[in-house]
Amino acid sequence: MRRKILKGTTVLAGAMCLLASFCESAEPAGPSDSKAGGRKTLTVGFSQIGAESGWRTAETRSIRSEAARRGINLKFSDAQQKQENQIRAIGTFIAQKVDAIIDAPVVEAGWEPILKQAKAARIPVILVDRGVNVSDDSLYTTLIASDFVAEGKMAGDWLAKKLKGKGNVVELQGTPGAAPAMDRKRGFEAALKNHPDIKIIKSQTGDFTRAKGKEVMEAFLKAAQGSGAKIDAVYAHNDDMALGAIQAIEATGLKPGTDLLVVSIDGIKPAFEAMIAGKLNCTVECNPLLGPAAFDAVEATLAGKPIPKRTLVEDRIFDQSVSKEAIGSRQY
Ligand code: AHR
Repeated sequence: MRRKILKGTTVLAGAMCLLASFCESAEPAGPSDSKAGGRKTLTVGFSQIGAESGWRTAETRSIRSEAARRGINLKFSDAQQKQENQIRAIGTFIAQKVDAIIDAPVVEAGWEPILKQAKAARIPVILVDRGVNVSDDSLYTTLIASDFVAEGKMAGDWLAKKLKGKGNVVELQGTPGAAPAMDRKRGFEAALKNHPDIKIIKSQTGDFTRAKGKEVMEAFLKAAQGSGAKIDAVYAHNDDMALGAIQAIEATGLKPGTDLLVVSIDGIKPAFEAMIAGKLNCTVECNPLLGPAAFDAVEATLAGKPIPKRTLVEDRIFDQSVSKEAIGSRQY
């Protein structure tokens, strides 16, 4: 399989997009009109998962601003976390005869029928952020995403070292069935394999949202109080859930970052602020600035150029020791 690696700095966002509404464009594409220079204006449909996290909003901004920068007509659809909404939106894009489709699939399974329809209509589908589970990988053109297993492993290695090989961990999982939820769990567990005295005592979904992260953490704390177990650390599959957990911990009078370690994934600015405040201990970056790479893939494939099946976005790990120097250069 051909593979390309995108360094964090090569996926920088272009100019900020001023469009703020998240509604689906309903107007039919019609025949694509021409730009002044005679080049065809491309119409691209983007099926986005929703706006569940700071990461997601940054990804949306990156795709929107890059489309605007390139003069591409973008049809945007927000699925509000529901796969059926994404499938419906992609069906609409196909009926509108868009030139290409960008899809950020909420879960891994269940995409074959709609991807077959796109293929039959000869519309390339570029997957961004999350992968799909299909028996025939010619159903999509390329996947541009981070290695979520590696992210989970980085978080686990960091935590195992900090806990000195011993402690009770609670885990806030992402959306059930989503690639980052499954893979970040797998990577984290792999890191803990050689540390039998580190135990994951509770693990539940917080759906990648701050509100759910807080709610589930409240329940974890209550259960621990009832059973007399001590929670030494929280592992959250994204920063938003970690920030919600921090609120829940503070409400009990405990100090997040000191009484309990908190480690998460994404690297959004509020996570750096929480690290500077001493409340979050570590975040593993997952770069959401995928607009430039996504539209490079769209333009290359429509021009008949070969593109790699998988583009890997490279991520880094940040902890409190570097948070002050790093925050100034964060773009999301
Ligand atoms: O798929 C990437 C994940 O989805 C991000 O970690 C999370 O914040 C988002 O909602």
